[in-house]
Amino acid sequence: MRLGYLGSGNMASALARGIGEPALCFDPVADRAQALASELGGEAVAGAAALAEQADVVVLGHKPGQLAAAAREAGAAKAVVSILGGVPIADLRAAYPGRPVVRLMPNTPAGVGKGVVAVAIEALEPGESAPEGEAAIRAELVDLLRRCATVVELPEAQMAGATAVFGVLPAYVSLFAEATVDAAVRHGMTPADAGRMVAAGIEGSAALLRAQDHDTLAVRRGVTSPGGSTARGLRALDRGGLREAVQDAFDAVVDVA
Ligand SMILES: NC(=O)c1ccc[n+]([C@@H]2O[C@H](COP(=O)([O-])OP(=O)(O)OC[C@H]3O[C@@H](n4cnc5c(N)ncnc54)[C@H](OP(=O)(O)O)[C@@H]3O)[C@@H](O)[C@H]2O)c1
Repeated sequence: MRLGYLGSGNMASALARGIGEPALCFDPVADRAQALASELGGEAVAGAAALAEQADVVVLGHKPGQLAAAAREAGAAKAVVSILGGVPIADLRAAYPGRPVVRLMPNTPAGVGKGVVAVAIEALEPGESAPEGEAAIRAELVDLLRRCATVVELPEAQMAGATAVFGVLPAYVSLFAEATVDAAVRHGMTPADAGRMVAAGIEGSAALLRAQDHDTLAVRRGVTSPGGSTARGLRALDRGGLREAVQDAFDAVVDVA
């Protein structure tokens, strides 16, 4: 399956890097497509129409609002995979009528082999069926995605929630890491030392959560001795409104995703 990336920006590049297959790349900024194609051992093409003609599957990597304009250029696509946030399968089918369509929500850690990708399950009306060949493309794609991500199949109605859970998570975790490094620097640590420790600490905490069956309370209790420093730190985070801020952030993402 020859993939063609329509848009060679941050997310498409991360996904392409994680999948690690030579691919066709196009971007209005030619250098961006060339850089990605060189990295993949693929080929940069001069236009969206050429990409659509040469690729077996076109991966939509542009912004959601560019769907109609991009589809005018890439209308010859044989099949389409979308990573566009908040764009329903119905809109993708309208833009690429009769073609197999797969809707994904990936996150950028796919670029380092540690991504999460949600694959949308469409709610079909009785008597409706997906275009011919769609199931086979979806199966092959899921195999490729497993190279670089935990793959979850979700009803389409939950894709906005998936975006709020893990699509945006690298930014939230980075913000938390940055604030922790700032605090450590204030206490005399070098940014480099603090940065290394924070990243390793986040990695270890995620591994512990997995090992303890995602039981967040068990992991927290395992660190929190009565009257100890973790208990004081957690209290300070609660006072600072961390839980409430996370709820608001979730709603803010779901409202538009
Ligand atoms: N970033 C994430 O973490 C993330 C996660 C999940 C999903 N997504 C989705 O991924 C998509 C891309 O996001 P991004 O963050 O990677 O944005 P980005 O870095 O700005 O990449 C988008 C790229 O598409 C190019 N482009 C614009 N119009 C195009 C067209 N008609 N045909 C082909 N390429 C075109 C842009 O070029 P110009 O700069 O010249 O416009 C840019 O290089 C969005 O739909 C977003 O919802 C992103």
